[in-house]
Amino acid sequence: MTSWFRKKGTLETIALEEEPLASSSFTRSITPHTPLLRVSDVHRSFQVGGGKIDVLKGIEMELRPLQLVMLKGRSGSGKTTLLNLIGGLDLPTKGEIVFQEHAFHHSSDDDRTLIRRKEIGFIFQSYALMPLLSAWENVELALRMAGTPRSQWKERVHHCLDLVGLGKRMHHRPYELSGGEQQRVAIAKAIAHRPSLILADEPTAELDSQMGAQIMSVFRNIIATEQVTICMTTHDPTILEDADHVYEMVDGRFVT
Ligand SMILES: Nc1ncnc2c1ncn2[C@@H]1O[C@H](COP(=O)(O)OP(=O)(O)O)[C@@H](O)[C@H]1O
Ligand SMILES: [Mg+2]
Repeated sequence: MTSWFRKKGTLETIALEEEPLASSSFTRSITPHTPLLRVSDVHRSFQVGGGKIDVLKGIEMELRPLQLVMLKGRSGSGKTTLLNLIGGLDLPTKGEIVFQEHAFHHSSDDDRTLIRRKEIGFIFQSYALMPLLSAWENVELALRMAGTPRSQWKERVHHCLDLVGLGKRMHHRPYELSGGEQQRVAIAKAIAHRPSLILADEPTAELDSQMGAQIMSVFRNIIATEQVTICMTTHDPTILEDADHVYEMVDGRFVT
């Protein structure tokens, strides 16, 4: 097997008024050698006060289908900035970002939003669940916002919560769940509309090592069953062992 099959993922993803997505019988066409995403010579600078800070300084990377790719690096090195660009939430100052066949660097905000709603799911350190809604209702909300036909909600919510191991906690609200369980609801929510790419910004940072390991096992499971690619950030050395590929960021550049 090729390396990306070998072993062992800003911002609420609020998607409104989406076209109905594909039906529940589901196969994704995967071309493993073709990158899902390609980042070429990407720079991102911010204007701050009278000056300019260069945060990303020539990033080259690719994400291949079904890979679990990790970005590591100190706080402030530029990981979240890069994740925002990959997710089409922000535009590079210079360089190219091509997701599937879409050139994000040439796309309008509206075009990127449409692609994002359909193809990308986000997971955050702080879970970003609706506190008054049950696990079930949180996942259902994601489907409602993605424009998935109502007739598919029940089966899909059930499937996603089962997949993350919360089949028995479907009607609990976030405050009745542990941190690890809340993050698993957030994963179910992120995959519900069948994105091809999941972006996760420090998804295990607030969890102990055992819960972090559970999240990684859920990630492996969803790569296999939902055929997603995951790009995530972390500093945890144990978690990094699970990666198919690790990019290390130092001061806006990758070091090898
Ligand atoms: N919108 C912005 N305006 C100005 N500076 C920013 C902005 N976003 C990020 N930065 C700066 O870019 C640097 C990298 O931030 P970030 O990508 O969040 O790093 P990391 O996720 O690795 O901790 C930091 O110095 C941060 O202050
Ligand atoms: Mg960050």
